Parts: sequence; structure tokens; C-alpha cells
Amino acid sequence: MFLRVIAGPIPDRKDVQEVRCNFQGKDYLAFKDMSPEELAFVTKLALDFKKKWTAREPHEYFRGQVWAALFEKNSTRTRNALERAAADLGIRLVYLRPDEMQMTRGEPLKDTARILDRYFDGLFIRTFGHEIVEECAAWMRHPVINGLTSLAHPTQGIADIMTIQEKKGDCRGLKLCYAGNLYNVAYTTMIACASFGIHMDLACPTELVPNADLWDETQRRAAVSGARIRLIQDFDQALAGADIVYGMSHYSMGQSDEEVSHLKAIFAPYQITTEAMAKAKPDALFMHCLPAHRGEEVTDEVMESPQSVIFDEGENRMHAIKAILSVVAVS
Ligand code: CP
Repeated sequence: MFLRVIAGPIPDRKDVQEVRCNFQGKDYLAFKDMSPEELAFVTKLALDFKKKWTAREPHEYFRGQVWAALFEKNSTRTRNALERAAADLGIRLVYLRPDEMQMTRGEPLKDTARILDRYFDGLFIRTFGHEIVEECAAWMRHPVINGLTSLAHPTQGIADIMTIQEKKGDCRGLKLCYAGNLYNVAYTTMIACASFGIHMDLACPTELVPNADLWDETQRRAAVSGARIRLIQDFDQALAGADIVYGMSHYSMGQSDEEVSHLKAIFAPYQITTEAMAKAKPDALFMHCLPAHRGEEVTDEVMESPQSVIFDEGENRMHAIKAILSVVAVS
């Protein structure tokens, strides 16, 4: 069992200490493994942590804990949001570079995971394939938090939902137009939208197809929440009536030059410009997980426009990570 996740109902309480036991010691790997109620609970907790941060109220609930942070890919937001979140919670973080570890000379992941488990109170990991975080979780007794894999970006997803709730209030019935490739952020966003009752049009060329299991899970949740989640080739149709326009890179780290050139060409009609934003609702938000390729998936003008909430969204990564750490950490 890779995921020791989350059994039992989540009580409707604000207090971290009261609810932490429901998630305590569990892994936080992907939204597909969590119920809509659990996602809503952690989002609310993240908003509560933001209030504490704004009021400068101390919240060192986990002083004495030491976590490992293993990043196999570069990061600006996730790594630094994690550093600050851990510091505020009283958690000491040890940053691990794969190139300084025996992993790079072929030590099996299951050995690395079991050794880290003996030293640390938890592991935060950014890596490549989703199966890597699943394998870590399978071999570790302490919690594992996914900081980005091929299929999921759950700390981003909580920050995004909290940003939408902050800006729009109740998000049920809103429409989100997503323009970008079908990777981790797309999958996390579509499961979030299906869970929270947000309609979502994923605007992309027909040759791209989503992961079948994640698509099926999205549609199962959408059937319950009433959300309509569609793949749409026509960008104008996807933009029409959108409350949120979410931009995402057209390609990903590690792809070949040939793949990148092809993706740039087929995604060219889906660039988010001021003209594209004008096809959404007048008060539509522009969101992007960042980093953005200005001039490719989105123009500089849209990034800097009053509709852009990208820096609030980026700040919310820190509050989201704090909420996730606080629910899974074992005291
Ligand atoms: N959105 C995001 O994960 O940013 P980083 O790659 O900078 O961590």
C-alpha cells in the first residue's frame, strides 16, 4: 500500500491540534487519493495559517521536528515556500541534493527511503515519475509529501483553490479555462475542480490526451459535484464565460528540442493575450503556477495586468505547505 492515507471523517473544526490526528503520519501524494472534504479541510486550514501569518501570530507547533527535503528538479517557489513554512512551524529542514548522495551511483530507492526514515520526521520530495514518491511512501513509516511529480502537484493545488476562494468566495459553479499542457498541474487542477464543483474547460490541441485513470477519476467526482470538465480544442469556446483563466507551460523540463518545437507550434493558437482575456468574463482572474515563459503561453501584458493574481497565488504556496505539513506531521 503506497498510500496510508486518510481514514475517517474530518471534523468541521478550525483547531489544528483537534484535527491533526486524522491525517497524522499519512502521506500527501496526490489529490486523487483524497476526498473533496479532505481537500476542503486543508484549504481552510491554509487560509487560517495565512491569517496567523498576517497577524504575526507565532505558530511553532512542531518545534524539534527535523524533515528532509529532497529536490531532484529545480525550484524557486516550492523550495523556498517550504523553507519558510517549516521555519514558522519550528521544523528544521535538511536540504538534500541527489548529486551528493549515493542514489546517483545506483543505490536503490528503497534503501535510501528506509535510511532517511530512520533519521527524519518526514520527507518532502520533488522528483520525476509519480511512482518514485509512491515507492518512498511504501518504504517509509514517516509521512511523505509530494512537491511535484509527473502526475501531481498537490501543494500547488491547495494554493490555487485557496486563491480562488480568497478572490471569488464560494467557488461552486465558477468556470475555469485552462490553457497549457496536460501534466501534473492540469491533472491536479481537474481533480480539484471536479471536487469543488468548478466547471473546467481544458483548451488544448486534439492530439493531446490526458492520463486515462485521472480523467476517469475526474469525471466520477464531477458527476457528484455537478462540475462539467471538458477537453476543448476551440480556445474561444473555452474562454467564453470563464471566471478564471489558468495558464501553463506548453512543454516541460527534460523534453527534447524536437518535442519542445512541436509543442510550441501546436500550442501557438492558445497563447493567453489581452484579447484572449477579453473573451472571458470582465472580472476573470489570470492564474499561473509559475515559472511562466512570457511571450509563449502568456504575454507580459497579461502577467502584469490587474487581473493577474500570480503573486498572491505564489505566496499561498507557503500557507498551503504549512497546512499540509501540520496535518501529516506526527508529534
Ligand atoms: N509552481 C512551482 O512549483 O514553482 P517552482 O518550480 O519554482 O517550485
